[in-house]
Amino acid sequence: MFSKIFKNNREENLGLNLKPGDNHYRAYVGPPKDYDLISAMVFNLLTCIGLRQDHRVLDIGCGSLRNGRLLIPYLNKNNYIGIEPNKWLVEDGIKNEIGRDLVKLKKPTFSYCDSMKEFNLPLNIDYAFAQSIFSHTGLDLLDKWLSDASYHLKDDGILLATFLIDEKDSSDQGWIYPGCVKFIPETVSKLALKHGFNFKLLDWFHPRQSWAAFYKKDYDTKFISNDIITWNEFGKHS
Ligand SMILES: C[S@@+](CC[C@H](N)C(=O)[O-])C[C@H]1O[C@@H](n2cnc3c(N)ncnc32)[C@H](O)[C@@H]1O
Repeated sequence: MFSKIFKNNREENLGLNLKPGDNHYRAYVGPPKDYDLISAMVFNLLTCIGLRQDHRVLDIGCGSLRNGRLLIPYLNKNNYIGIEPNKWLVEDGIKNEIGRDLVKLKKPTFSYCDSMKEFNLPLNIDYAFAQSIFSHTGLDLLDKWLSDASYHLKDDGILLATFLIDEKDSSDQGWIYPGCVKFIPETVSKLALKHGFNFKLLDWFHPRQSWAAFYKKDYDTKFISNDIITWNEFGKHS
């Protein structure tokens, strides 16, 4: 029996020898060796700044559910919404990471689009996040995503997003992949203001990018105002 378990482990296809962007559900979304690390980074950030089961979460560019695989079981039924134009990634994520039974039980919503066009009415989102999305959007597309996120977030909601920071802005437009774009934080901060957000860079480890918070006017900043975000800080304020 044990030899069968070990054999299955060896055969599990984690794409570890593949490059980011390759045609495999783990490799397409980034370096396969970091698939688990990114899941942990996002789930820990969200929970350290207050995410609870009754909150509604928007996962922008949810890919193969690298983050959804922890969030969907954690959240109450119907509270996870994932937007992803590459349907095959979500399907492979369901098949290999969460299973159909969990989808039946937790009823996440998936929209196979590159925008929020399927949702006309505000979704009243508490927490939105864009992990390794704004590192691939030209300024025009970043502007559109900030506008859409602002429309769908509650007045006390927050969007967390990762960026590549530079001293000058990329001039690319639209979706750039697997290539990357970089921005000056001041440029992003100005766009944030245009869409009714306050902007703050966050000190939260990412292996390649920087985290930022975009928060609406009634967002309670108690979990992010201190520059150290930790579980113990969360405990002090909750
Ligand atoms: C680097 S991957 C990150 C996936 C996921 N957020 C994660 O952390 O695993 C970028 C994802 O954005 C999706 N995508 C493609 N075009 C997009 C667009 N216009 N807006 C948002 N996401 C897009 C890609 O299909 C891909 O799944």
